Amino acid sequence: MLVSGTGTILQALMDACADPGYGARIVAVGADREGTGGVARAEAAGIPTFVRRLKDSPDRFAWDQALTADCAAFAPDLVVLAGFMKLVGSDFLAEFGGRTINTHQALLPSFPGMHGVHDAFDHGVKVTGCSVFVVDAGVDSGPILAQAAVPVLDDDDEATLLERVKVAERALVVDTVGRMLRGGWSVEGRRVRLGRLGEHASSTR
Ligand code: GAR
Repeated sequence: MLVSGTGTILQALMDACADPGYGARIVAVGADREGTGGVARAEAAGIPTFVRRLKDSPDRFAWDQALTADCAAFAPDLVVLAGFMKLVGSDFLAEFGGRTINTHQALLPSFPGMHGVHDAFDHGVKVTGCSVFVVDAGVDSGPILAQAAVPVLDDDDEATLLERVKVAERALVVDTVGRMLRGGWSVEGRRVRLGRLGEHASSTR
């Protein structure tokens, strides 16, 4: 898993993985900065961690190569970006494309980018939500794996809406990752199917 922040999604996945029936194990947690809550949670749980800062590499390309090597060392079946505030690059996608997922705080393709809840709230939508998607070279643009709708209530402010979206998002990520790793998934163009053993069949990994 790759994180940049407090790691509440990571925590939800760690909690889920405690049940052997969930069918997944977190092999490592990486971050792009020091001192993240996410890495602290992983360390407390005895999960291997690493930090790969952009400023320690000569350029973005070298950083992406180093991040790819960091992740490859743990041979993950799936890479989960959970609040990871960097775009992965071409080397990373060459290695982990099709098996790297991210989560977004809005119903894509609406309100992509860093401020999904703010933008949806500002727009005055009555329903927003969260999306889990396969990472491609764009910003929040990859094939969608799963979405959950969240109502915007009349007395919401951005903070109350954010909290409601994040509760739904944690549950969606846990459900989606579990289904992917237990049952496999396939990607055909923009269409992703879960639980149909195909291109990424967990039984063959
Ligand atoms: C999540 O809500 C995720 O959608 C968002 O960061 C949060 C991480 O929360 N990701 C992005 O904005 C990526 N552009 P957490 O650190 O509490 O798990």
